[in-house]
Amino acid sequence: MPDAAGGDSGFWRGKKVLVPGGAGFIGSHVVDLLVARGAEVTVLDDLSSGSWQRLAGCVDAVRTIHGDATDPDLAAKVFPGMDVVMNLAGRAPGLTPDEDRHDRLYQENLRLGNAVLDAMIRHRVPRMLVVSSSCVYPDDAPVPTPEMPLDGTEPESANRGYGLAKRRIEETAIAAARRGDVEIAIARPFNVYGARDDRRGPGAHVIPSLLEKILSKDEEVVVWGSGSQTRAFIHGTDAARGLVDLTEIHALAEPVNVGSPREIRLRDLAMDLMRLAGVEKPLRFDRSKPEGATRKAADISLLRGIAGGFAPSVDWEVGLEEIVRCHPDYRASKRGCNQTVPRL
Ligand SMILES: NC(=O)c1ccc[n+]([C@@H]2O[C@H](COP(=O)([O-])OP(=O)(O)OC[C@H]3O[C@@H](n4cnc5c(N)ncnc54)[C@H](O)[C@@H]3O)[C@@H](O)[C@H]2O)c1
Repeated sequence: MPDAAGGDSGFWRGKKVLVPGGAGFIGSHVVDLLVARGAEVTVLDDLSSGSWQRLAGCVDAVRTIHGDATDPDLAAKVFPGMDVVMNLAGRAPGLTPDEDRHDRLYQENLRLGNAVLDAMIRHRVPRMLVVSSSCVYPDDAPVPTPEMPLDGTEPESANRGYGLAKRRIEETAIAAARRGDVEIAIARPFNVYGARDDRRGPGAHVIPSLLEKILSKDEEVVVWGSGSQTRAFIHGTDAARGLVDLTEIHALAEPVNVGSPREIRLRDLAMDLMRLAGVEKPLRFDRSKPEGATRKAADISLLRGIAGGFAPSVDWEVGLEEIVRCHPDYRASKRGCNQTVPRL
């Protein structure tokens, strides 16, 4: 069993692992870790939000396929012979206020999740990771949020369509595992952060979005909502370790949180980013914009119990500083992007 420091049990050595979405933010961290643990990794990515650049550190050790994971003809060529599928392909919600995003994200994520699950069953891959989300939890869930029953509740209202799709995918995966078709691990990541989360503009996550405003020529930094909403962030390398360990030791079709219990207020996050970027600007809180859940943090007791005392290992300040240093606008004006967080 892997230990809290990410010890290697040898499970992954020589395993053929397919990672749809492996050129994405979290997927690329998963690929790094699988390669380090000796797996033979194939990445299947349509590059809709992914980039081979993220795999620069291990590209020679990985087979890459540019294609759509929902394409059954491609699946017939790629899935057979795999030992494990770790599905990191998805359409993340990010910060956009448009109303039709709920329907769009519901349809796209459901189609993608079901297609990969169908393909792994059809092509007899024995084990899979399904990546769900903390957005499955209702707005009034206790915080830090445990893996509570969801019956009779609605998913987080700010990400309704996305959360609903993730719930449906979990249900389908659990049904497949109960039929005995496959062994399935199910993870519910909370907010994941890191320098590789480089999506800009509409759809960007909260940290890159705030940083973009801080580094822009605007005279003030506008924060959506009251600024007192909290989030608890886990670094991509830690999230990847949680996902890989769960797939190894808990493929029991039981959803498990992967995240951090440590909450930070958005106003404090904005101040931290300004300090690290060496920028001083007034903050303005725009209460006309949605702020999402008032508080979000993960109860990770279950993951701790499963994965040898799992705990996030990347120091918050170090992880945040790396994001600032790697931002192209900061790099353009200051030093280069020195990697401060170890790749694994
Ligand atoms: N980032 C977070 O904080 C977070 C939190 C909870 C859950 N998740 C989930 O984790 C997964 C990965 O998220 P991420 O933040 O790395 O997003 P991402 O957008 O960086 O990565 C998704 C990857 O999937 C690829 N992809 C999308 N559709 C595809 C298709 N049809 N075929 C092949 N590849 C396809 C994209 O090109 C991209 O490389 C998603 O399922 C997301 O819902 C993310």
